[in-house]
Amino acid sequence: MTLGKSKTLIVQYTPRNERSSTKKILDAFIGEVKNSDIEKLDLAKDVPNFFLEKNLDAYIHRNYLGETLSAEQKNSMAKMDRMTEQLKSADIVVVAYPMNNFSMPAAVKAWFDSVMLKGQTWDVKNSGYVGLMNGKKALTLVSAGAIYAQEPMASMEHALSLTNLEFKFMGYSDVRGILADGMNADESVKLSNLEKSVKQAKSIAQEWYLQK
Ligand SMILES: Cc1cc2nc3c(=O)[nH]c(=O)nc-3n(C[C@H](O)[C@H](O)[C@H](O)COP(=O)(O)O)c2cc1C
Repeated sequence: MTLGKSKTLIVQYTPRNERSSTKKILDAFIGEVKNSDIEKLDLAKDVPNFFLEKNLDAYIHRNYLGETLSAEQKNSMAKMDRMTEQLKSADIVVVAYPMNNFSMPAAVKAWFDSVMLKGQTWDVKNSGYVGLMNGKKALTLVSAGAIYAQEPMASMEHALSLTNLEFKFMGYSDVRGILADGMNADESVKLSNLEKSVKQAKSIAQEWYLQK
């Protein structure tokens, strides 16, 4: 935590808006945030760039080869750099999205690709990988239609497991995740799993924001 008021970054992809189960869990978390500036990034509106010819070339030349970029090359990286600076400025990050095809939606993956820049959020030192986001906290909120508690479904879960891996790779000290599964199951299962996830989200927020 930095001295003074902390900053919480909410990164969300919930294009079903008020109908979104993911958003209900996120709203429960946000309702418990205390003494922290909240900044939001809506990935359904502010869509991250993919790595394509120009920006991938610029990224390699700048972040791997240490070269200075031309104005055009810099411009190709501007959105990724902005999203990376935003993430680096936050003490706590919460990423919320529904599972799509067993993993994270493309916009969320593009956000991770945008912010996982070598030399910014992770690096290579003494031929090993090091995360640069030590001391920070990360929470992922995922909702999914099917139930992943048991095999064979458990091994098909590549949403929360991947997000947790990405945050650990970046060096986050406290990495948590909630999977609200069964959202397309019977109404009673859906409601009970949703309620359980809402409680978990509130409890993590209460724990994090009471800490100084
Ligand atoms: C394009 C698409 C792909 C989906 N893929 C999966 C999937 O692979 N596994 C799963 O369990 N649910 C899948 N679902 C269901 C959603 O993850 C689930 O309904 C979720 O709770 C929706 O979240 P929301 O209410 O926040 O929009 C998919 C839904 C959509 C629209």
